[in-house]
Amino acid sequence: MNLSLNDHDRFNEIISEIASRVEVMEMKKYIQHGEMTTYDHCLLVARRSFFLARKLRLRVDERSLIRGAMLHDFYLYDWHVRDDGRKRFHGFHHAKTALFNAQKLYDLSAIEKDIIMKHMWPMNIRFPKYRESYLVTLSDKICSVMEILKMEQEKVLWKSESQNEEYD
Ligand SMILES: [Fe+2]
Ligand SMILES: [Fe+2]
Repeated sequence: MNLSLNDHDRFNEIISEIASRVEVMEMKKYIQHGEMTTYDHCLLVARRSFFLARKLRLRVDERSLIRGAMLHDFYLYDWHVRDDGRKRFHGFHHAKTALFNAQKLYDLSAIEKDIIMKHMWPMNIRFPKYRESYLVTLSDKICSVMEILKMEQEKVLWKSESQNEEYD
């Protein structure tokens, strides 16, 4: 999955604010699949969504696409650990939790809300409304399968100065 230098710059320009936010970096504490943190999973999904949009030459709201993808799993817990205080069936409920958390941080666009809320389609049966949402739901599934099968994905995604200091 190779982005051109221009694409890479554009991706970083959009993702840098959101990916460097302390609250968003909380996702580094949780594992999504295998050894992949939820944070890295979201970065990969954002990158793949952007890549697909560019490759397919789709007209999309790139800012909403990337930001929605980065926040699509912003539910902030370890879904592998059973917690009686939480609703069961993570697959069905975490999108709503992610949206709730994201709305505490940002005034989200309609596209961003739809991306987060509908990313589990078709498991959650409400159809996505925007092409950006379909791109994220597709990218999420591709990335998840690759993570479960431990297939190689881009290792270096995006790193800010503060991120290096705090997490390296
Ligand atoms: Fe999810
Ligand atoms: Fe996901």
